[in-house]
Amino acid sequence: MMEMLAVQVEAPGGITSLVVRSVEDLTPRPDEVKIELIASSINPADVKIRTGAVVPLRGAYPFTLGYDLAGTVVETGAEVTDLAPGTQVLAMSAVALTGVGTWSERVCLPRTSVARLPANVDPLPLARLPLAGLTAYQAVQRAKPGPGTAVLVCGAAGSVGRLAVELLLDRGARVHGLVRRPEQVDQLPTHELFTPHVGQPPTRSVDVVIDAAGADFSPALVDGGLYICLVPDRAPARDVLARRSQRRTVLVTEESGADLEELVELLGAAVLTLETTSIFPMKNIHAAHREFEQDGQRNVVLIREDW
Ligand SMILES: NC(=O)c1ccc[n+]([C@@H]2O[C@H](COP(=O)([O-])OP(=O)(O)OC[C@H]3O[C@@H](n4cnc5c(N)ncnc54)[C@H](OP(=O)(O)O)[C@@H]3O)[C@@H](O)[C@H]2O)c1
Repeated sequence: MMEMLAVQVEAPGGITSLVVRSVEDLTPRPDEVKIELIASSINPADVKIRTGAVVPLRGAYPFTLGYDLAGTVVETGAEVTDLAPGTQVLAMSAVALTGVGTWSERVCLPRTSVARLPANVDPLPLARLPLAGLTAYQAVQRAKPGPGTAVLVCGAAGSVGRLAVELLLDRGARVHGLVRRPEQVDQLPTHELFTPHVGQPPTRSVDVVIDAAGADFSPALVDGGLYICLVPDRAPARDVLARRSQRRTVLVTEESGADLEELVELLGAAVLTLETTSIFPMKNIHAAHREFEQDGQRNVVLIREDW
């Protein structure tokens, strides 16, 4: 039996509940791609799963953690004919739904979840894009903003929020960004269609709220507005919103290679930007998590393949 190294959660708990161990290497199913990891990153969702605040729907402890993946194709299932070994790719694995984490030397994912990277692109810095980028992208798709639509992004200085602001500005929306502290405004774009708010959201003035902060910001919505909640356990009650004819949708980010390819194009066109990160080898997973948590989970830490 072939083996590989993986970072697994032993049981819900603190940083030391993460262990690097040898696990069985996998063979791709007919519709899957087997990818050798170059880099991944840490997201708040990884911490929620590690601590047990979120329990994956499939799989049992111990299981491999991790959403993000930048890597190289090493093998494909019989039905996958358009990704040759050696192709560099990007993917998000919805570990909370599937139990398949990316923090292992090799990962098998459905072809439809995998984005092909252009040949001239360095995959390593992109390793922090998949979950945050897909979440922002799918939230903006749900918002359906046209030119002039007013959208409030709560948690605008966070990984998802920053990308959502940039995507919305690209579509001509009037964007309001809510941050908690004044210094976070410096992390946001300067743009004629963008208005930052510190601490206090605007009142009864936006058509859509994209809530990446996890509190009830519905007083910002006009009657009939749409509340897109990214933190399901903090969603405002549906019946409260209904009194003002406001709708609520809870987004669960979906794996999508096609959406990721579009995000990579937008990065190439400088519509989207990624912040700089700290880089840790996988074997220093505890130190990486410590830094991630000490930094208020804002500065996503990249983890390299060095075990
Ligand atoms: N539904 C899904 O499928 C899905 C997918 C991805 C992410 N998520 C969730 O979405 C959330 C955002 O993810 P992320 O990666 O962007 O996290 P992040 O980088 O930590 O960003 C969260 C941001 O929200 C800010 N914030 C918190 N409370 C606030 C408040 N009351 N007012 C203004 N800003 C506030 C934080 O500011 P401070 O730094 O000051 O705390 C931070 O900038 C997380 O809870 C994550 O688990 C859900």
